[in-house]
Amino acid sequence: MVMVAVTHETADEPRVAVSPETVKKLTALGCKVRVQAGSGKGSNFSDDALKAQGAEIVPDAASALSGADILLKVRRPTTEEIKALKPGAIVAAILDPYDKAAMEPLAGTGANLFSMEFMPRISRAQSMDVLSSQANLAGYKAVVDAASMFGQAMPMMMTAAGTVPAAKVFIMGVGVAGLQAIATARRMGGAVSATDVRPATKEQVQSLGAKFVAVEDEEFKQAQTAAGYAKPMSAEYQKKQAELVSTHLKNQDIVVTTALIPGRPAPKLITRAMIAAMKPGSIIVDLAAERGGNTEATEPGKTVIVDGVKIVGPLNLAGTVAGNASSLYAKNLYAFIELMIDKKEKTLNVNWDDEIIKGTLVAKDGKIVHPSLTGQSA
Ligand code: NAI
Repeated sequence: MVMVAVTHETADEPRVAVSPETVKKLTALGCKVRVQAGSGKGSNFSDDALKAQGAEIVPDAASALSGADILLKVRRPTTEEIKALKPGAIVAAILDPYDKAAMEPLAGTGANLFSMEFMPRISRAQSMDVLSSQANLAGYKAVVDAASMFGQAMPMMMTAAGTVPAAKVFIMGVGVAGLQAIATARRMGGAVSATDVRPATKEQVQSLGAKFVAVEDEEFKQAQTAAGYAKPMSAEYQKKQAELVSTHLKNQDIVVTTALIPGRPAPKLITRAMIAAMKPGSIIVDLAAERGGNTEATEPGKTVIVDGVKIVGPLNLAGTVAGNASSLYAKNLYAFIELMIDKKEKTLNVNWDDEIIKGTLVAKDGKIVHPSLTGQSA
């Protein structure tokens, strides 16, 4: 029997790493899922609903962790939590692994730490891709929040008293979050445009009925890595991009920024001068806030008004639709854990050579082992 532990997250994290559905599936795989009472509260998964699918609800974290083979979390667990597990246990979470000072003591416990945000972007791993499942919801919620804060209507309305124009919505960064933001803004009737540095996004933007705005030079044609992510752009490209964007921004009502480059601070795409030139009453929702923000004025976790423009820097938008976010995250984790379990023997059997295991393993035998953290690759 493989023992799986789930404990409370920090006070500001409403999501949880299992759902009633995944408790059922894990139990069917041969796991015993022990959940600290109340862990699902923020997602409206009651203890009873989890118990009905086979979870054992225990009163405290210590009872869930003691003797567990696997710890499932949303956020990085504490060293104490990991020490309470079986020696060499498996921990799967969004570990934020570039924070070296926080990671080293965790690695020192000797546990096998898996960072879900390092999931390779291969088709076999799509069902395990937490960045996608969470970013999709964040992109949706960014537009809904912006629309509710915007002091005007989103769709064009032709009435006897005159025409209400469609709100102009600009999406900067068209990855998973940006694509969902475009689709949501279109559904709400906005006039949508979008920009990105990866050429593959042009067709995606257009196929969603939005206008593509970008500097399409030689550098743009090379801006995508083999892993599908953006490369950091040269100072020269950034200057051309800024000129184009600053003219476009002057006419926008709602801007959603999502631009990220793995392992680096978010690129600054909107300067204070660009904000000053925007229309008063316009809204920027900066989904890159957690990584420093895409605007010069973003304050992570806060909403500020600068020159009449409201700039929102949410830290956990997926957490504001916690029921959906937890359901999808839990499914991602289930698909990942399924890889490690011998279904016949109902025991742990990790294939350390598997591309998915190697890609996500950040610490083993007391040491940080992932090449992008040990400096052996970019
Ligand atoms: P991300 O969250 O790392 O970045 C968001 C977007 O910001 C990206 O589209 C990036 O190109 C853009 N960006 C970076 N610098 C910029 C700049 N200076 N100006 C404008 N935009 C900038 O990206 P995300 O959402 O993780 O997606 C990256 C790619 O991976 C996408 O093509 C996505 O479709 C693909 N993907 C593939 C999967 C698979 O095959 N398993 C799963 C999920 C995503």
